[in-house]
Amino acid sequence: MIRLKKIDLEKTRVSAVIVPVCEDGPIHDDASIARLADQAMALAEFKGGAEDRVVLYAPEGVKAERAICMGLGKIASVDKETLRAMGGKAVKQAIALKLDALAIAAPLPERLALTETDILESLIEGAYLGNHRFDHYKEKPSKTPLKRMDIMVSAAQAKAHRALAHRVRTICDGTILAREWVSLPPNDKRPETLARAIVDRAAEAGLKTEILTDRALKSRKFGAMLAVGQGSESKPRLVVLRYAPKGAKKTVVLVGKGVTFDSGGINLKSSAGLANMKMDMSGAAAAAGTIIAAAGLKAKVRIIAVIPIVENMPSGSATRPGDVIRTYSGKTVEIGNTDAEGRLILADSMAFAVKAYQPDIMIDLATLTGACVVALGEKIAGVFSADDDLAQAIVDAGVRTHERCWRLPLPGDYKELLKSDLADISNMSSGRWGGAITAALFLSEFAGETRWAHIDIAGPAFASKAGPYCEAGGSGFGVRLLCELLERL
Ligand code: BES
Ligand code: MN
Ligand code: ZN
Repeated sequence: MIRLKKIDLEKTRVSAVIVPVCEDGPIHDDASIARLADQAMALAEFKGGAEDRVVLYAPEGVKAERAICMGLGKIASVDKETLRAMGGKAVKQAIALKLDALAIAAPLPERLALTETDILESLIEGAYLGNHRFDHYKEKPSKTPLKRMDIMVSAAQAKAHRALAHRVRTICDGTILAREWVSLPPNDKRPETLARAIVDRAAEAGLKTEILTDRALKSRKFGAMLAVGQGSESKPRLVVLRYAPKGAKKTVVLVGKGVTFDSGGINLKSSAGLANMKMDMSGAAAAAGTIIAAAGLKAKVRIIAVIPIVENMPSGSATRPGDVIRTYSGKTVEIGNTDAEGRLILADSMAFAVKAYQPDIMIDLATLTGACVVALGEKIAGVFSADDDLAQAIVDAGVRTHERCWRLPLPGDYKELLKSDLADISNMSSGRWGGAITAALFLSEFAGETRWAHIDIAGPAFASKAGPYCEAGGSGFGVRLLCELLERL
């Protein structure tokens, strides 16, 4: 549980109070907190620098068993991410100390270049996400999450920001849902199972839900989805989740790539390439986590999540390189490479979404290309859109949430690289370079006239090592980003 609460440390016993400290000036006005910061600064080993940390045991004048002083660096350098990271690190340390609760002293907005809302939002977010552990598969989890986290504020602030605390928790719960789906091992999330898990959770959140089975997909001519899924014993599913508030003026479609395991198919990946390919459904997880959170937030826009779920496997029934398939849109595709499967299932889903829902905006999220990871690394997503305003809105939401996005181009002349002698288009570029771009250009053929953006999350969807407020594994990337975006559309 996390909440905003007034705590008088001279009267109330706490097991740990977290005191953020800057190296170049005070950031608290509460006398007992300020004294703890001074005490830490008097020690040779603590200067308030970004990596500095010291624990004061049984400090005088307060009923805290310990004060953990956390350096933030220079006042001018403190931004929302500094505070999120601080919140996450504080929780991690409290867990390592085997505590079950902590209280974080919120710094003063007057002293930092941040609003009160930004400060509280960041502290809640970092602490709440940092307290999440995915250890369902261990007999004895080695780390027990904290039971109580209090962000210390005045009584008036606690009251004024109650809605904020609810909003942040709701978005973080969506993020945690996505993280857990991504981290789930691939034998426990084959298409039928994952589709069911998503739909059950969405129904609990009050969404309208639907699953198209492989039979329905066959009769409705989802040729690309069926081709990708035909090598697996677990058949494709298309999940549709709908959120329709009264009076909504805009419809936003979210499409999420849901490949529960990407072996590459007949173009089998290398051993190194196969590692973590359970994460290839991160787009699906993010789309579902977002719409579930948005329902909890009572978002103003109509949202529809279209989530194709398949397993890409090699077998005697698998699609071959050289096959030509007919997609939902009617366009034919030559399979140049069975490992370029994501764009195929997205092509069917996007064409279907445009036809069925005529959205004002369509955004797809996909762990689409290794090339995007080469370009932007493991922490930044690629954004592609012909619409400058939409691209900028996504990049801006990325700055605010620190789910960072960088815009890449959609050069029309590169479409040359996707030409096929036999079919309308090939799923593989004839050239070696610019793989993230050619993948996005392929998708653009299936967006019709809709305002559309593609977010390639192949890098940030999965954390290869733990960060300050995310363990190694699924990151839930996209949920905070899209919730932020949806509020501003
Ligand atoms: N799921 C992969 C992309 C991926 C790579 C995600 C690394 C996360 C980390 C995708 O389906 C894929 O295999 N893409 C190929 C495309 C190529 C065959 C044209 C790639 O990126 O190599
Ligand atoms: Mn692939
Ligand atoms: Zn893939």
